[in-house]
Amino acid sequence: MKKILMVLLALAMTAQMLAACGKKSDIDTEDTIPEITLGDDETHASDDVDSDKETESNSVDKKDPTETDNNTGSVTDAPDTEPGHVRVESITLDKYEVNIKVGETDMPWVTMLPEEAENKGEEWKSSDESVATVNYYGEITGVSRGECMVTVTSKDNPEVSATVKVTVLADETEDDPSETLDPNENEAEVPDGVVLVESITLDKYEVAIEVGASDMPWVTMLPENATDKSELWESSNTSVATVNSYGNITGVSEGECTVTVTSKDNPEVKAEVRVKVTAPTDERTYIDGILIANKTYALPSNYNPGIDPAAQAALDQMIAAAAGDGITLYVVSGFRSYSSQASIYNNYVARDGQAEADRYSARPGHSEHQTGLAFDLNSLEQSFGQTAEGKWLKENCYKYGFIIRYPENKESITGYMYEPWHVRYLGVDVATSVYNSGLCLEEYLGITSVYAD
Ligand code: DAL
Ligand code: ZN
Repeated sequence: MKKILMVLLALAMTAQMLAACGKKSDIDTEDTIPEITLGDDETHASDDVDSDKETESNSVDKKDPTETDNNTGSVTDAPDTEPGHVRVESITLDKYEVNIKVGETDMPWVTMLPEEAENKGEEWKSSDESVATVNYYGEITGVSRGECMVTVTSKDNPEVSATVKVTVLADETEDDPSETLDPNENEAEVPDGVVLVESITLDKYEVAIEVGASDMPWVTMLPENATDKSELWESSNTSVATVNSYGNITGVSEGECTVTVTSKDNPEVKAEVRVKVTAPTDERTYIDGILIANKTYALPSNYNPGIDPAAQAALDQMIAAAAGDGITLYVVSGFRSYSSQASIYNNYVARDGQAEADRYSARPGHSEHQTGLAFDLNSLEQSFGQTAEGKWLKENCYKYGFIIRYPENKESITGYMYEPWHVRYLGVDVATSVYNSGLCLEEYLGITSVYAD
């Protein structure tokens, strides 16, 4: 047992030393934000919000309901409060996983963007205070062995948050009263030289799949040198979803259930995945060779291609060409999985109601971001269209194979409000042809964008 304790202690100390590198030096949240240069400040054109620039009466200078993927915090455009108010649009952390022992602390480093946001106040919350607490400044303290999530939310824009996965390892000081691991258990049962699994973390705790589709969370068991990392998988309802011995989860029928992975070696260590199974949708729709994701045409929930390499290469070229013209372009949001889109959309529905959310946020399966062929650039404000960057993008993106997918005054056809920041890759030939036509993609292809319900 001594050997095990020494190894755990060494691991925990290393984690703590690493964690210390990113620790805040004081408690002033403004001061803790590192200097980050994203490019030309003018690209954050939130201070020139001007709804009367909108010619379409129903496209008041609204949000872009965008976000990023799960691990980079969320970027969400928020409702405009007042003209000139610069809201927090994103939170990033220097770490998204914290491993601490009982009684130890760690504090992720927070960056809120845009830099000029006026209120960078943070609100911290632990999903399970019996495992770890978090104070006003984001200092996380291990309470008892287990796992929980700690979330930081922008006070200014509660739609913007980031989450840290916290794993609290047992404190191996045997007489420590805060120790929740029963020392007798291990002392009695673990033979010398055997290192028990102490924690399981997953790369996802929610899986959304269609009937017949599969998804497999990625498992990390700690400590690294655990003797036996065998996994035991179990579904709470095999008529909804099954799971095989590798953790591959397959949808069986519409519904929800929980899939649990347990350490074979140390059965008290487990992690749970919430599984939602939906009815199968139609296959992907290509019209004239163009993959369509709009309100009429959905993508299967298991279509998860990541960023398309050709689109990425074209984007890199476009960003370089723009830089040559003194224009700084950068990506705010690229590929979004079905699951990411589901949580984004659900947040907007909760905030604004479904009818309003449907004007700017795609339902899961209907977002172009799930194609891996779309990018949101620079700013999620409609006023971006009036900036030098927005104008450059509008006039030049076709040369690199992109179109402005949701142009001004086309909401009744595209189904979405004006998004001067959202570009869709079509390849140079088609993009040039669409650009020259002056039509939006739906008009160009002669298709609709309307939800069935
Ligand atoms: N904002 C666009 C429409 C999306 O949610 O994909
Ligand atoms: Zn977009």
